[in-house]
Amino acid sequence: MTDMDASPAAAAIPGPNGPAAGEAAGSLEATLEGLLEVESFDPPAGFVRRRDVEADRAAADADPVAFWADRARELLTWDKPFTQVLDDSNPPFYTWFADGELNLSANCLDRHVAAGRGARVAFHWRGEEGERRDVTYADLLADTQRLANGLTSLGVRAGDVVGIFLPMIPEVVVAMLACARIGAVHNVVFGGFAPSAVRERMEVSDARVLITVDGARRKGRRAEVKAAVDAELGDLPALERIIVVRGPGQNAAEVPMTPGRDVWFDELLAAADPDCPPVPLPAEHPLFILYSSGSTAKPKGILHTTAGYLLGATHTHGAVFDLDPDTDVYWCSADVGWITGHSYIVYGPLSNGATSVMYEGAPDYPDHDIWWRIVEEYRVTVFYTAPTAIRSCIKWGPQYPARHDLSSLRVLGTVGEPINPKAWLWYHLVIGGGRCPIVDTWWQTETGSVLISPLAGATATKPGSATRPLPAISAELRTEDGEPVTEGTGILVITKPWPSMLRTLYKDDERFVETYFSRFGPSTYVVGDAARLDADGYFWIIGRIDDVINVSGHRLSTAEVESAIVAHEAVAEAAVVAQPDEQTGQAIVAFVTLTGHRAGDDATEAQLREHVAHRIGKLARPKRIVWADDLPKTRSGKIMRRLLRDVAAGRELGDVTTLRDPAVMAVIAERVRATP
Ligand code: WT7
Repeated sequence: MTDMDASPAAAAIPGPNGPAAGEAAGSLEATLEGLLEVESFDPPAGFVRRRDVEADRAAADADPVAFWADRARELLTWDKPFTQVLDDSNPPFYTWFADGELNLSANCLDRHVAAGRGARVAFHWRGEEGERRDVTYADLLADTQRLANGLTSLGVRAGDVVGIFLPMIPEVVVAMLACARIGAVHNVVFGGFAPSAVRERMEVSDARVLITVDGARRKGRRAEVKAAVDAELGDLPALERIIVVRGPGQNAAEVPMTPGRDVWFDELLAAADPDCPPVPLPAEHPLFILYSSGSTAKPKGILHTTAGYLLGATHTHGAVFDLDPDTDVYWCSADVGWITGHSYIVYGPLSNGATSVMYEGAPDYPDHDIWWRIVEEYRVTVFYTAPTAIRSCIKWGPQYPARHDLSSLRVLGTVGEPINPKAWLWYHLVIGGGRCPIVDTWWQTETGSVLISPLAGATATKPGSATRPLPAISAELRTEDGEPVTEGTGILVITKPWPSMLRTLYKDDERFVETYFSRFGPSTYVVGDAARLDADGYFWIIGRIDDVINVSGHRLSTAEVESAIVAHEAVAEAAVVAQPDEQTGQAIVAFVTLTGHRAGDDATEAQLREHVAHRIGKLARPKRIVWADDLPKTRSGKIMRRLLRDVAAGRELGDVTTLRDPAVMAVIAERVRATP
């Protein structure tokens, strides 16, 4: 392997953050091409790491359980210290620190305020129309206590589920922390999902209360969230109360409120007692459910518990990003509705006492330089985003970052999907000025926190590789038959439990065991990804091996999209597959047959796409709809998606002889050619 420092090459383009970068686009392209040859990048020469990690690695290798116990004592504040660490007597139902007690909101707020850091900014919030609001730790603590009391006054008790459907505003953090303060289990739904997806998630989790917003805005347009919620969820029997936040820039007068059920967030807070002492909760008390897509149409309610989850988020946020809460300004551009937002906007940063940026809007509104404007304005030092966002920035061009001074940045991160080396290099040069280590963090909703990643400034990186497992994490590859793979490709597994792992699927232990622990036994967690291990022990994530599609780093299940399409009256059958996409990593292609042998047309296509957006969300809209007369099926009637994937990606078709009617594929291949 050729270790090489990137800085000299980076210096070849005239100050990537300087005004010349735009005009130097040609030379940037040449530099990128040249650097594609470079296999490995040492930590940038001038980078000074703030936290020691070598000691971690040694301690974790010697005794991973003791390593976690030490971290749990060092990083978290306990009301009752634990004496047990890991209980692995009933795999895969592991527990961590089970006899200890703590309150998560106290770890995120009270302890910082008590230590004299109440005036520290927790979030520099930026609204879509340029509004600025700094929220301190003391502010968050005051609001969290009032909302916790407000929830209690509405009858919410420890263990009850509270739904949260909010845009990127500080109230979403208060809502999550208020639940944690009283032991209610939050169930956040991504604000971009359709209200019908919210309904499903509230219904299956028996949510008693939903916290939502009057309206939300996106790129200058307004969405009537509360009215849509009423229309979709109004008749849910378990849902007793709806708390409504007045969103920024909204006109509250037009919002429908049902007396006795609906209450304004600000009025609830104003009427509540300001003091709500944190309740010590058992370490394994459920903290939240987050629904994620799986192999079937029914989303999986991934359940995380209190102490282990918080430990994972706190520890990795510090170690991976080398975060110093006293000096760093940290920004994760994800939405709180995803696990990335839970762990790396809310819990990790707050538990560490960090100062973060929270941004309400889109990266291209009011202009394509808004992210870099914000980095400059707040002197952001650590920036965490997704490969798909970086690819959008590449498409828009280097002239947008070049308008701003990005010299404050010291660490860059990515998450959600494999990053192609060219995007990695562009991020490194154009955003990071060649001086910032990039951490490509691999993890999942299920893992709660990052498991495979470089440690900023301490690990040599290879563009496209998430590098090595973090200390105390046992990631390995297996063949189909369960044999270990030491070099080459295989099925990614985690062979030792870790504190922030999911505990089960909500009210569905059976599906939990079946999904993750049936293939190689109850103590081998099967991730659902394939990966390649190189000679240096570096992991290269290839992608999902189940029927999950990764669109812009967001997980969607083929079955879920299919069942939405089939629910349309004109549709007889549908099969959904992924095809590689330059922008979004993967894109959804739907093969659809219509009822009554009707032929598809543009109007039906538009209708179907709108229909999917309405049932699941815009993300799930197929990029391409191919009309088929019939779908390729085996003699037993199973749809052969493998053939559809091949034809969508423009690959040679494999064996079609097992099809009931081999001619079907010829027709489909012809249609694919005709459907760009
Ligand atoms: C799946 C998990 C973890 C927050 C975002 C997504 C893919 C995630 C990477 C990465 C390659 C990645 C995997 C994984 N993935 N990070 N750095 N490199 N692939 O969470 O929705 O639970 O999806 O995202 O396929 O299994 P999620």
